[in-house]
Amino acid sequence: FNVPAPVNEPVLNYGPRSVERAALTQALQEGRAKQIDIPMYIGSEQVRTGKTLEIRPPHDHKHILATYHEGDAEHVHAAIKAALDAKEAWENMPWEDRAAIFLKAADLLAGPYRAKINAATMLGQSKNAYQAEIDAACELIDFLRFNVHYMTEIYAQQPTSGKGIWNRVEFRPLEGFIFAITPFNFTAIAGNLCASAAMMGNVVVWKPAPTQIYAADVVMQVFLEAGVPPGVINLIYTDGPVAGDIIFSHPEFAGLHFTGSTGVFQNLWKTIGNNIHLYKSYPRIVGETGGKDFVLAHPSADVDVVSVALLRGAFEYQGQKCSAASRAYIPKSLWPAVKEKLQAEMATFKIGPVEDFENFINAVIDERSFDKLAKYIDAAVADPNVNVISGGTYDKTNGWFITPTVLEVKDPYYITMCEELFGPVLTLYVYDDADFSNVMDIIDNTSKYALTGSIISQDRYAIAEATHRLRNAAGNFYVNDKPTGAVVGQQPFGGARGSGTNDKAGSMQNLLRWVSPRTIKETF
Ligand code: SER
Repeated sequence: FNVPAPVNEPVLNYGPRSVERAALTQALQEGRAKQIDIPMYIGSEQVRTGKTLEIRPPHDHKHILATYHEGDAEHVHAAIKAALDAKEAWENMPWEDRAAIFLKAADLLAGPYRAKINAATMLGQSKNAYQAEIDAACELIDFLRFNVHYMTEIYAQQPTSGKGIWNRVEFRPLEGFIFAITPFNFTAIAGNLCASAAMMGNVVVWKPAPTQIYAADVVMQVFLEAGVPPGVINLIYTDGPVAGDIIFSHPEFAGLHFTGSTGVFQNLWKTIGNNIHLYKSYPRIVGETGGKDFVLAHPSADVDVVSVALLRGAFEYQGQKCSAASRAYIPKSLWPAVKEKLQAEMATFKIGPVEDFENFINAVIDERSFDKLAKYIDAAVADPNVNVISGGTYDKTNGWFITPTVLEVKDPYYITMCEELFGPVLTLYVYDDADFSNVMDIIDNTSKYALTGSIISQDRYAIAEATHRLRNAAGNFYVNDKPTGAVVGQQPFGGARGSGTNDKAGSMQNLLRWVSPRTIKETF
């Protein structure tokens, strides 16, 4: 199959006098100046219900950025109908035409929409320019281009035939519609959860997190401009339980593509299980859920590598990546040097709004997240068994700002070592050098998650041992690197245990979940 060979989109650097910085600054200014009114997209309609809610930048919560129109049950029914109405024409469209649409979407994001999608992600989700660039621009572009390539690899997988027999497999879309539920933390994930299913010929009802709607609207505009026909992807803002009641009891519900919390995913799975008799087919359930991602330093580790893995892994995007390093295990012999390095570097962190390109740390997503983090931080500060190495404060005067915080704990099972906080809080446990082996048992047993983890070591035996012993503790395992920043086409991303179904985002495995193959045998 002849499709353009996928290449990772180069990351632009937005240096002070660059043209990219100028374009992005302009898009940010326009975004702040215009208070847009965001509709739902159902079939060929832009739907405004009049029940408007406000969107505010997390780093500037007094400013109203946009309003959006909340939907109710009627809009869920309408979105399902629009999807099912669009289905036949879409699934019968030659795959090359579907591919062309998503390749064009990638090109639109790489070119004319780049500043707009990045600005929307910065303003709506409080990502700095670099974090927006590697997410909303590069990762989403990569998902689209690589998945088109994986799609052709799937179609090329054909059985053998014999004399007088011709066997073939058609990789048909699922019968029914897909429900995509997308999180606030990556614009790329939102685009990909819809596009990967749609690319394989499916129709989609999409419900983003309310805190992502500002960027979701731009993703939808890109899809439509690229030629996704009306009804193939329908974007609704109906409250989760209301949408869920309707969707999960619909006979044509064919699959869930989800990224979000473990608790929500488990509840949805139970609902789907309870309703299983209602569906035409067994639905596909694909989810990426929580993480409690670790960094393990061996006594042989390079202190600079450990420090960078912790600082970038824990604090980029305020620790709100599901892959973020949130627990670390440091040998006693390295601890004084690591501690000094962390404190020195963290004293230079610039914290503030995304519009100032110097700020490395921006706000956490919303008040709920801020309050939750503040509670954990207060408890840690008051606990005599916890040393606050850095941070430990917060400020919500203008935005939801949590100071990046490092806690050293005496108990490796202290609550912030076990629970997912989803914020800029790193907890670390200092172990006796001789206990390296036992510490791996602790890592494996501490949390219910298994998304990402790192071993930092210059000793090949230690690397080999950790890679083996921690084989079930992380779906993405990094050697001498931070546990974040998986690149599409390079590190297929996903975890098992409480972290998800491990159907690797941006991979052939994931796309295979969105097809229902039909085998055809013909004899002559
Ligand atoms: N894929 C992202 C990362 O690896 C997290 O979702 O950081």
